[in-house]
Amino acid sequence: MMIRRNEGPRALIDSFGRAITYLRVSLTDKCNMKCGYCYASTARDTAITPELDNKGLLTPIRAFASLGVNKVRFTGGEPLLRRGIVELVAHTREIAGISIIGVTTNGLLAERNLARLIDAGLNRINISLDTLNRHRFKAITGVDGFDRVGAGIEAAVSSGAFSQVKVNTVVMRGINDDELRALAEWAIGRGIDIRFIEFMPTEKSGWSRERFVGEVEMRSKIGLELIPVSEEGNSRGPATTYKYKDLPGRVSFISAVSCSFCDNCNRLRLTSKGEVIGCLFQEDKMDLGQMIHKGASIGEISQRIVEAVARPGFRRQPDDVSITSYKPLMKAVGG
Ligand code: 5AD
Repeated sequence: MMIRRNEGPRALIDSFGRAITYLRVSLTDKCNMKCGYCYASTARDTAITPELDNKGLLTPIRAFASLGVNKVRFTGGEPLLRRGIVELVAHTREIAGISIIGVTTNGLLAERNLARLIDAGLNRINISLDTLNRHRFKAITGVDGFDRVGAGIEAAVSSGAFSQVKVNTVVMRGINDDELRALAEWAIGRGIDIRFIEFMPTEKSGWSRERFVGEVEMRSKIGLELIPVSEEGNSRGPATTYKYKDLPGRVSFISAVSCSFCDNCNRLRLTSKGEVIGCLFQEDKMDLGQMIHKGASIGEISQRIVEAVARPGFRRQPDDVSITSYKPLMKAVGG
């Protein structure tokens, strides 16, 4: 398909009819935590392919915006380790069509950076927290940072800049599955949306059947009478969300293993090296790195994106519930 230039935003539709409106951008593979479920390896980072600088990342982000993407989320590794993230948020905010800018962070550097990020236009935040116990926190993450992350969450809630602060909790048997009720009560009393995430068998995650806890079991461990709420507008995503009585917080479940939510998948991923990923569990990638380094225009990049998304193998079939042999490295693609 030929791209005509000087057109307004057009819809980016995959070969199964799903519109892409959401881009997740991994800003770095580096992380200042060592959570075993994400990257259980002591191997040193081997940066073979260089990361794109801010200018290089903004070119594909602009291309995606011209194709109808209205939401961008910065992930990692740990996105707040990336120099110039505040400027990146500010420049992304200026792109016509992009109204939602989020970050998914482990929270260690959140308190320190929050005010500047909010000033730059950040309006969504997800902070990871797997336990309310500081000793466990250190055992899970390798960092004695419970207080710092807690302060980051507190700062995000009290800033008033986010309609709801989200907290991500990966649930693992024998590690934190005895805390689900306490975590849920902690969140709903504070107006936080806590998202219990099924442990996914990603690369170097140390995943096992024994460690895995499915949503049904999570809900019985929580033991609260949760009431489903329908999410409005742009929050549509893989989470199913509940409230409890009239308390301000929410309890959500992201059940990538026991449920399939591929039919309403609206997202693509861009890595810090310039690869576009059509599906977390699909190996087919498209590398824009070379084109960007050579100074390709937004129109040329857009054309490549449209072509990739039209490939049947690039995006997973909506009704495909098979377990793939391909596993993503979360540290590089950012969940
Ligand atoms: N399974 C489920 N979630 C994971 N994350 C990282 N690795 C895994 C895994 N194997 C989560 C992090 C973070 C989000 C970006 O991805 O906890 O909240």
